[in-house]
Amino acid sequence: MVKIKVDLKDRGYDVIVGTDTLPELGALIEADKLGREIFIITDPLVNDLYGDILRKGLKQRAKTVEVARGEQQKNLKIAAKLFDELVKFGAHRDSLIIGLGGGVIGDLAGFIAATYMRGINYIQVPTTLLAQVDAAIGGKTGVNHPKCKNLIGCFYQPKAVFIDVKTLSTLPARELRTGLAEVVKYGVIEDADFFKFLEANAHHLNTKAFEEEETKRAALKLWQTIVVESVKVKAKVVEKDEKEAGLRMILNYGHTVGHVIESLTRYRAYNHGEAVAIGMVVAAMIAQRMGMLDKEIVIRIKGLLEKLGLPTEIDNLPAKKIIAALSIDKKVSAGKVNFVLPTKLGSVDVRNNVPASIIKQSLVELGAK
Ligand SMILES: NC(=O)c1ccc[n+]([C@@H]2O[C@H](COP(=O)([O-])OP(=O)(O)OC[C@H]3O[C@@H](n4cnc5c(N)ncnc54)[C@H](O)[C@@H]3O)[C@@H](O)[C@H]2O)c1
Repeated sequence: MVKIKVDLKDRGYDVIVGTDTLPELGALIEADKLGREIFIITDPLVNDLYGDILRKGLKQRAKTVEVARGEQQKNLKIAAKLFDELVKFGAHRDSLIIGLGGGVIGDLAGFIAATYMRGINYIQVPTTLLAQVDAAIGGKTGVNHPKCKNLIGCFYQPKAVFIDVKTLSTLPARELRTGLAEVVKYGVIEDADFFKFLEANAHHLNTKAFEEEETKRAALKLWQTIVVESVKVKAKVVEKDEKEAGLRMILNYGHTVGHVIESLTRYRAYNHGEAVAIGMVVAAMIAQRMGMLDKEIVIRIKGLLEKLGLPTEIDNLPAKKIIAALSIDKKVSAGKVNFVLPTKLGSVDVRNNVPASIIKQSLVELGAK
């Protein structure tokens, strides 16, 4: 098991990454006295796959509540139902919530923990790659409003993040790829060696390796490295800027255009990671046109994403529409659009002065009409 500290003084915690570790969570809760009784929030699929394995190690009284799968469950109505269940269970200030699942479950469980009795302990047990490398770390919790994603929520750090990379072996290929987009992001924004490691191992970063017993062990080792290195980058950024006052903005690399592509295609054509992959290439091209980045790096970023099976072209979206939507996106600050632009591998700069003509040329080069 590898422990990565998220050093936030009295709100600090460990991210524990290992393989076949789920049954050991109970011992950690007991040793650190994290909760007298445990309320597990999960979804039916993850509960079927991993609920019993996790519960086997728990020594405390525990109750599991399932929330149906999908982003549309991340809302205040579901939150209200979970509060009702907590009251029925008799949860109080020394109870512990565990969020077992992907980012949807994690955001919801964190929000419930942050608000129930003005905040009780919670542990994230993320089971998708995206949640393991991103959503579970950093304490952003929340639910969606019908008009806007993640509108209602707060920063509230967990007591621990407990990752069993073996859970990745049951993820559908597309879910794995969506997490890989964030993994590539970490290489570009902060860690050139990690980017090179991803280039060297790209052909193994898929679900195939999990299928055969002989390759499974090596695959788990490789995924553990990927998760550990990604968590290190996220933890480092969160430590320096817990509440997204500045530096944490670099985590939005690829997200400026990515969010717009996701919403213009009504969250159907692309999932989050796919849209972010396109957004990362657009941002790299913009950086090159601004004279900030060598063309060779643009080619390498695009090449790595393609090797991982992520899209890098814009199909059927007019550049004009993307640019119009960019200006109303939430990353607008004082009327300007913030772009996180790479300057070399492992380093980025935030700019809000990108001329519309450069954005347009970059979009068109990638296939936008
Ligand atoms: N809080 C943050 O900082 C942060 C950061 C990024 C994203 N998010 C949020 O995360 C959410 C997306 O998370 P996601 O991509 O994990 O999606 P998700 O939570 O919807 O999970 C995707 C699907 O995978 C299934 N699943 C989960 N683990 C599995 C496993 N081990 N094997 C098989 N299937 C499994 C789930 O049942 C679900 O249907 C969004 O709501 C987004 O807003 C939050």
